[in-house]
Amino acid sequence: MVKLVDTLGLGPSAFGRGGSSPLSGTTQYYKNFMGIFLLVLLFAILLSFFYSVVRAISWVPMWGKDIKTILDLADVKKDDKVYDLGCGDGKVVFAAADRGAKAEGLEISVLPYLIANARKIISRNKAKISFKDFWMTDLSDADLVYFFLIPRIYPKLKTKLEKDLKPGAKVIAYVWPIEGWEPTKVEKREKGPAIYLYEIK
Ligand SMILES: C[S@@+](CC[C@H](N)C(=O)[O-])C[C@H]1O[C@@H](n2cnc3c(N)ncnc32)[C@H](O)[C@@H]1O
Repeated sequence: MVKLVDTLGLGPSAFGRGGSSPLSGTTQYYKNFMGIFLLVLLFAILLSFFYSVVRAISWVPMWGKDIKTILDLADVKKDDKVYDLGCGDGKVVFAAADRGAKAEGLEISVLPYLIANARKIISRNKAKISFKDFWMTDLSDADLVYFFLIPRIYPKLKTKLEKDLKPGAKVIAYVWPIEGWEPTKVEKREKGPAIYLYEIK
């Protein structure tokens, strides 16, 4: 810890105690600022990681090769409103936006949120990456809701989807089916997780 504090430039000399520093005032100020910034960022990443685990699940990326199957299965079209509940690095919403959909990824964990935004900037993708808790987001405009979450939260999620979604809206559950709902289509492969498509009546 002492080493980390020193590396970040927050040691005693940084605050004018214990020996003289060869660094100029501006350089020392910059070092202190960066050190505090990195500590705050680290704290935010850890805190939001635990928050995401409590609220649903931490970041586990889906298989990139399944994206096309998911979007084909849901027949995503231009101007469809697509949500990914817990979008991770954003790869599903980026692919949906590439098809012309109004795609939005909701993410509550700082690290994947930052990665998704960096990817969005680099690839100039039109998808929206929102730092939002999906439990607190109104999904009533959705044409498709996709998620890769865990069955532990499905009963509560089912209630939210039944309350929020309009008739005709589609839901794609990655890996685990939704108990009590009849899927319209199921993609089961020998290698790779199952994908379940549902339609709201
Ligand atoms: C298993 S990962 C799936 C990532 C991405 N959807 C994919 O398919 O690759 C689940 C994601 O949900 C996020 N998450 C968990 N609870 C959340 C919440 N209440 N609101 C928004 N995101 C949440 C986690 O941080 C994590 O990135």
